[in-house]
Amino acid sequence: MRLLVLYFSGTGNTAYVADYLARRLAPAPVQIEIRSTEQQSASDLGDFDVLATGFPVYGCDSPSYFQSYVTHLPPGEGRGAFAFGTKGAFAGGAIAQNLRRLAARGYVPLGGGSVMMPGTDGLAFVGKESWMARQALDKDYDHLADADRVAGQMAGVLSGLAAGEPAEAYRQPLPRSRVGNSLDRVWAFLYNLLAERYAVSRFWADERCNGCGLCVRLCPTGNVELRDGHPHFGDQCMPCMRCIHLCPRAAIQIGGFTVDKFRWHGPRGDFRPLRLRKAREVTS
Ligand SMILES: Cc1cc2nc3c(=O)[nH]c(=O)nc-3n(C[C@H](O)[C@H](O)[C@H](O)COP(=O)(O)O)c2cc1C
Repeated sequence: MRLLVLYFSGTGNTAYVADYLARRLAPAPVQIEIRSTEQQSASDLGDFDVLATGFPVYGCDSPSYFQSYVTHLPPGEGRGAFAFGTKGAFAGGAIAQNLRRLAARGYVPLGGGSVMMPGTDGLAFVGKESWMARQALDKDYDHLADADRVAGQMAGVLSGLAAGEPAEAYRQPLPRSRVGNSLDRVWAFLYNLLAERYAVSRFWADERCNGCGLCVRLCPTGNVELRDGHPHFGDQCMPCMRCIHLCPRAAIQIGGFTVDKFRWHGPRGDFRPLRLRKAREVTS
């Protein structure tokens, strides 16, 4: 039986958790393949029996980029699917929402869960020696209790499926709590207001930028271009924060709030997205 783990990761947390889950699931009777949505077209996934989709939680949901990706998945045709997310604080109904989207594509929702990781939105605004930065660096990333719980639930289901039970036997009921949904919507509304109206329009590169173009190649939505050797940011930002955290000179800022603040390079300090775009130079 083949499990395909398909994830998007802006700044390394979800990539790390995808890998962590796969290691925890290794004793299960399944063949596991992990792919990033940036290296894999949604409509051409090849053979798989069960899907596990992973994403960073943005505003109590998955990033809009990821939601759009899911709508292009091949029809589930009764195959099972898990959803897992990584969060900095509160995932709300993010997992249920994504299981619902998978169910709408014909997948049987099998469960999943969210895993607490450093909040890569807030980290760019805190001091390098701050409590939050130290917490992020000091955490024991070899033992993630949330991820162990998710892996345990997945392992139980996968063993049953491998023994020949139908995915329907493991269908997870999706909660329909109105209170929960309203709280999510308020949180998401405020977050998106902050992200779209405030943060996204204030991305810029300071004098440390040497025009290397890495931000152009890193951006998952192709939102950055070099003009006369200087990055310019368009209106397709998620914002995944990748360019901010991975700029080798920490030159990319949101207004003045992130100057000389902490930068996150993933739990092992070595995150590099799998697909790097070619630099595109536009001269004005
Ligand atoms: C734009 C944005 C929105 C976020 N919204 C939430 C949120 O609603 N709840 C939460 O707990 N964490 C939130 N976070 C934190 C991320 O979910 C968390 O840091 C995640 O692990 C990042 O994963 P990645 O490194 O794979 O991109 C947000 C981060 C960003 C950049």
